[in-house]
Amino acid sequence: MPRRSCGTLSASDAGDTHRVCGWVAHRRDHGGLVFIDLRDETGVIQVVADPVAAQVFEVAERVRHEWVLEITGTLDIRPEGTENQDLPTGEVELKASSLKVLAESETPPFVIDDRVEVDEALRLRYRYLDLRRPKMLAALRKRASAISAIRLAAEECGLLEVETPTLTRATPEGARDYMVPSRQHPGSAFALAQSPQLYKQLLMVAGIGGYYQITKCWRDEDLRADRQPEFTQLDIELPFAGVDDVLGVVEATVCSASQAIRGNAPDRPFPKMTWAEAMSRFGTDKPDLRIEGELKDLTSVFGGTEFRAFSAAISQGSRIVGLKSKGCPEGASRSWFDALIARATELGAKGLVWILVEPGGELRSPVAKFLSAAELEAIRDVLALQEGDIAMIVADAISVAREVLGRLRVELASDSTEAEREGAGEFAPFWVVDFPFAEWNENEGRLDPLHHPFCAPHPDDFEIISRGSDAIVEAGPESVRALAYDLVADGWELGSGSVRIHTRELQETVFEAIGIDPTEAEEKFGFLLEAFRYGAPPHAGFAIGIDRLIAVLQEEASIREVVAFPKTQTGSEPMTGAPAAIDGSQLASLGLSLKQSPRP
Ligand code: AMO
Ligand code: AMP
Repeated sequence: MPRRSCGTLSASDAGDTHRVCGWVAHRRDHGGLVFIDLRDETGVIQVVADPVAAQVFEVAERVRHEWVLEITGTLDIRPEGTENQDLPTGEVELKASSLKVLAESETPPFVIDDRVEVDEALRLRYRYLDLRRPKMLAALRKRASAISAIRLAAEECGLLEVETPTLTRATPEGARDYMVPSRQHPGSAFALAQSPQLYKQLLMVAGIGGYYQITKCWRDEDLRADRQPEFTQLDIELPFAGVDDVLGVVEATVCSASQAIRGNAPDRPFPKMTWAEAMSRFGTDKPDLRIEGELKDLTSVFGGTEFRAFSAAISQGSRIVGLKSKGCPEGASRSWFDALIARATELGAKGLVWILVEPGGELRSPVAKFLSAAELEAIRDVLALQEGDIAMIVADAISVAREVLGRLRVELASDSTEAEREGAGEFAPFWVVDFPFAEWNENEGRLDPLHHPFCAPHPDDFEIISRGSDAIVEAGPESVRALAYDLVADGWELGSGSVRIHTRELQETVFEAIGIDPTEAEEKFGFLLEAFRYGAPPHAGFAIGIDRLIAVLQEEASIREVVAFPKTQTGSEPMTGAPAAIDGSQLASLGLSLKQSPRP
């Protein structure tokens, strides 16, 4: 008899004999009968064992949580009043005529039930049990359906899937490389690809008419909720393409993923915002537009101020930037405000002025006495303050003031519930375009590319970039743009891309502008420069972080929820114990020795 999936049995199957296999989710003794909820990946069916079937009943009495059973029986309509409305199979039950134990289980370390909160460390230690939870199985299924929809959309756009090596040379995406020492070439190592960036550009030189790939990338960086050491990219590159061609293809794939997971997709084309606007309004290049409140420049309000902290800052060229936080947290006290100031300082501000709008509209602030009535009213006006609101003001270099207030904007909002946020639940991705070409690296005293060194200059800023690093620094790196863009939703950077440089001359100029001298450029990227000698088409592309896209579409706060076997925050895998010590014979065959003994 073919096996039926537990969750698919319904009233229309009643009266027939069925065979099911699965795990014991619950077992109850009730009025002389034993009830077993049997679970497989499709759902749960209630099985009844009656003492009349003595052998079945004897086994049913012994089974425990998570034992694996094979049960055959007749499907009955449940007696009136015993239906379970919450269960898709709640109208029926399987009267067992045969019950076979396929495997026993020890008592699991946690109850496999979506309603039970389990510590994440324990979940990751026993991930195979965690994945038995219906919510996790559903997450994996949604991920798979999104990926399948993305493939279809990419192929409908005429893209060819090409696999590129992941054992390769360093790819400059800004993280550390994972190195794989070579046994055949002692002293040499592969780098695990941080992205397929260089290969996909070479595929354009090869004449591929449009490329995509869904592939693993590796980056050795500090982990957070939106970062894993290995993650999956949807990588795209198009020949003879400009910005809008790329955005169109990416939108098609993102909408198909949204359709697969949510059953609906955002309107196209997605809105665009320039990087400069994102930074000035939200203090970040990945603004969360669900949060109310924008940064406002208040410098002109304090032109003649007598408040020393602000007048001194202005005379040193700093700006005064303000932000309104909607509504004051319940019972905001002096200590709450002190913690707010401490957090601002921790984030790099020299200080923070807060103003609370009291019931009746009076403005309360520890520095109110230093501010004129006109200044206070102007703050109220510019920030559109209402009763209960808090104004936060920082005087600093514009980049610091924006960064600090941008971060506080997000942190204060994460204290309020999702539902209270504007547009919560809606998937509203948008483009951030015209990223700067490079940023000043204070520690190294040089320019670093903001995306990677292969981005083409914005045509209006081409002339400055072609004059090299001094010209960029003189013009102000923030105002010198690349044809580079990001996709953002809910405060997450979902993906990033650019039009590329496709001539050797410009690529060499750019390497030089960002401190890669010709010898180093030849050493690291000679193969790309060489390929550019042989007719490279203009090209442009993009990469979406699939884990992030799927987490946002599933409204999860961490990508770990949509990755089958993620690493912990400290980059390890508690289930397998990876990474593991390298044993002596492996070291010897790789021609390596350890300077320190491995930590136990
Ligand atoms: P970028 O470095 O911005 O661009 O990466 C593209 C996207 O990949 C995702 N991502 C990550 N996801 C999870 N964990 C990580 N550690 C991680 N790092 C990155 C993000 C990110 O937006 N080659 C370029 C793309 C291009 O120019 O075409 C690149 O890799 O969602
Ligand atoms: P001080 O003059 O340093 O005693 O600071 C007086 C008040 O101004 C304190 O509440 C500080 O937190 C605040 N303050 C000082 N410097 C700044 C600044 N750069 N931006 C915003 N507030 C500041």
